[in-house]
Amino acid sequence: MKATVLGVLSGVLVVLLAGLWGGGAASADNGPHMSGQSVTTDSCAGCHRAHTAQAANLLKVSETALCSTCHDGSGATTMVDAGVTTGGGALRAGGFQQARINTQDSNPVGVGVLGGGQTTTSSHSTDGSSQELWGNSTPGSGPGFAGFQLTCISCHDPHGNGNYRILRPAPASEGGATDTTAGVNVPDESPKVYTTTNYFDNGPVIMSGANAGKSWLSSWCAQCHTRYLAPGGSATTALPGEPIFKFRHDTQEAYAPSCVKCHAAHGSNAAVSGYAAQVAWPGGTAVTTATGGSRLLKMDNRGICLKCHPR
Ligand code: HEC
Ligand code: HEC
Ligand code: HEC
Ligand code: HEC
Ligand code: HEC
Ligand code: HEC
Repeated sequence: MKATVLGVLSGVLVVLLAGLWGGGAASADNGPHMSGQSVTTDSCAGCHRAHTAQAANLLKVSETALCSTCHDGSGATTMVDAGVTTGGGALRAGGFQQARINTQDSNPVGVGVLGGGQTTTSSHSTDGSSQELWGNSTPGSGPGFAGFQLTCISCHDPHGNGNYRILRPAPASEGGATDTTAGVNVPDESPKVYTTTNYFDNGPVIMSGANAGKSWLSSWCAQCHTRYLAPGGSATTALPGEPIFKFRHDTQEAYAPSCVKCHAAHGSNAAVSGYAAQVAWPGGTAVTTATGGSRLLKMDNRGICLKCHPR
């Protein structure tokens, strides 16, 4: 089945991925999120009840509370709200309530890890509340898609799919918005390492072929934030027909930073003040909270820019 989904990618990539996966080897998903379960699997019982379910789709608790029943440390090692593993390692995606990103790191080529957690200042929503999906869809279509109800399962497939972090290939459609292509299947890593000591990292990179060196996660994030995917030259060439995302920082070339080099996927503890705290949302809506300008960035204010453009 993987080959079918991948068929939408370029022939070059199909060859590359078939190689990496050993020609369709068994799924390497983790925890109860295994595609291709054994005939006597117990995993379903981690989330479903046959007769005493408390939420639709026969879930044991509501969809928005479900993931935390294990990912609070009681049933998984990755504590996504606290941004750490049960062993104390700092999680790659940052965290939803606390994170350990050293957002004041003076290392010119790194963003290290704090000894203790700090309260996050921005994070992706996980409560299903209506949000603006910034940059979704085609040029000229406004600031984004209004009323997107984001939860953990918008981005992750609870049943597993063999992809990196069980990321859904077409996450935008989960909330009724437009995916740009027929799917981005980010290849899994082996062995899996959920922690980091340096947040200044592009994440998984395409290994060979025409797109070699480019970031998988830039392509993936842009399934939802369509117009943020910017090829080389976008800083000096306007996107035709687009009044808001007109000139854009390169996020797509092999030499350019990926989305996750600047942003933490779950949430960040970066602080903002001055100009950085006042940057309006796309389309011009003013920022209304003291921390609204931090935008999942991995350094305070615009410290991230200095890592590559010392001034
Ligand atoms: C980590 C939690 C989790 C586990 C483990 C899990 N499910 Fe689910 N399941 C969900 C959630 C959340 C939904 C609703 C959202 C969706 O469809 O993705 C769902 C929906 C479903 C549905 C209805 C929608 C569909 O995809 O057809 C079926 C059937 C289902 N699960 C079967 C299973 C079976 C069988 C197992 C064991 C092999 C299992 N699930 C394991 C969380 C889980
Ligand atoms: C019954 C317990 C349980 C529930 C409920 C659960 N998880 Fe997990 N999950 C695990 C375990 C165990 C792992 C293995 C890694 C670890 O220890 O954290 C894991 C791993 C993961 C991974 C990494 C997968 C990979 O391939 O590397 C993701 C992403 C994830 N879970 C997301 C979710 C989401 C989203 C939900 C809610 C739909 C959820 N989990 C609900 C137990 C659970
Ligand atoms: C907007 C999309 C999005 C949402 C919403 C989201 N995740 Fe993730 N998650 C990601 C991405 C992307 C990564 C990989 C980040 C990386 O490697 O830099 C990730 C990584 C993870 C990991 C691996 C550990 C880590 O921190 O890297 C786990 C476990 C996980 N997510 C669980 C969850 C759970 C549980 C929720 C809801 C409480 C959730 N995610 C909500 C996109 C999302
Ligand atoms: C070079 C660092 C950098 C990279 C790479 C980057 N961003 Fe950003 N992003 C920022 C900064 C800085 C802001 C704050 C607003 C501004 O300055 O335009 C921001 C803001 C955002 C916002 C909030 C809305 C807004 O525009 O203010 C979204 C959504 C976003 N980025 C998505 C992405 C996606 C998706 C990618 C990858 C395709 C990406 N970013 C790559 C630095 C970066
Ligand atoms: C399933 C769709 C979806 C995917 C995939 C997704 N996002 Fe978002 N993102 C949203 C929505 C909806 C918002 C609006 C704010 C919220 O969630 O509360 C948002 C907001 C943001 C913001 C602004 C945060 C703030 O301060 O409010 C940034 C930055 C961002 N996303 C970056 C990313 C990056 C980087 C990735 C890939 C790792 C990514 N997004 C993947 C849906 C998505
Ligand atoms: C990870 C390294 C990295 C980070 C972080 C980074 N940039 Fe860049 N920046 C680049 C690269 C690479 C280019 C593309 C240069 C090219 O295409 O020749 C670029 C291009 C630019 C350009 C266009 C220059 C030109 O000659 O076309 C501007 C302006 C710029 N960046 C500003 C910023 C700002 C502001 C920030 C912080 C929000 C930032 N950059 C963060 C690496 C980075």
